[in-house]
Amino acid sequence: MADIETYRPRRSVLYMPGANDKALEKAKTLPADAIIFDTEDSVAPDMKIEARAKVAAAATSGAYGNRELTIRVNSLETEWFVDDLRSACEAGPSGIVVPKVSSVENVERVEAMMDSFGAPDHTRIWAMLETPSAMVHAVDIATCSERLAVLVMGTNDLARELHAALVPGRHPLLWGLSKCVNAARYAGKVILDGVFNDIRDPDGFAAECRQGAEMGFDGKTLIHPSQLDAANEAFAPSAEEVDHARRVIEAFEEGIAAGKGVIQLDGKMIENLHVANARRAIDMAEAIAALG
Ligand code: COA
Ligand code: MG
Repeated sequence: MADIETYRPRRSVLYMPGANDKALEKAKTLPADAIIFDTEDSVAPDMKIEARAKVAAAATSGAYGNRELTIRVNSLETEWFVDDLRSACEAGPSGIVVPKVSSVENVERVEAMMDSFGAPDHTRIWAMLETPSAMVHAVDIATCSERLAVLVMGTNDLARELHAALVPGRHPLLWGLSKCVNAARYAGKVILDGVFNDIRDPDGFAAECRQGAEMGFDGKTLIHPSQLDAANEAFAPSAEEVDHARRVIEAFEEGIAAGKGVIQLDGKMIENLHVANARRAIDMAEAIAALG
């Protein structure tokens, strides 16, 4: 399978309504690793055309520092999709977030249209997985396109389509979440967790961030600035983890020099695979530090 892209922090990925000038302005100073300028569900039908122009202008403004910029277009079956996609391709952000990707054919159609609209190579597909069909076809979707770089869980739509409840611990969604993480890892793609709707429940939000990080997600999509700090913390290795990672590498190298393939550190077995994890934690920490 394709190699995962060189680690780029995507701990916190903030949606904002593309027609909301205040949010577009505010995002220039927020500690988000990435931004999704939305024209889909957060924009009312009579504001779609205006939002399309606003998000293109924002994405090309150069005013968002080193935050990774993406545009969410309306879904393939809508009247806005073709013009949204054309406009986003011309703007050329890091990613075009495509909602409700449910099949390989959907991805192939988007990819062919992006080619015909002259999208730059650096503009990647971020496919939203948020339908029962996407859960069934997750692996095929994840592996069908080089341009597809990121999978994004759409947990609100998924719960709605499943007739499932959004509850603490998310047990009704765990099968789909796990399946998509597995598909992402198999395909060497990045995967982002879905949003947490209750912006006045920081404890519930922190718990869901921890759960997502434990499951293997690379980061979380967010809806409000108050969620940024907790996501940035949950999806970064802690200082203790980085310190432990350095000790693992050091101890293992000493072990190898002494002719051992497996050693113990603080009473725990360390093998080559633990060293790989340790290197990943250090790479992540360094990439995060480089953000400034
Ligand atoms: N991105 C950037 N700025 C945001 C923001 C976001 N997602 N959400 C809120 N803000 C800004 C507000 O504009 C406000 O700015 P100010 O300090 O300059 O006045 C500040 O943060 C505080 O906002 P607050 O009053 O707490 O929230 P609100 O009532 O204005 O908005 C929501 C609440 C949920 C409507 C809003 O957070 C939102 O639109 N989130 C994104 C929704 C979305 O994109 N959904 C689609 C994907 S699920
Ligand atoms: Mg959705």
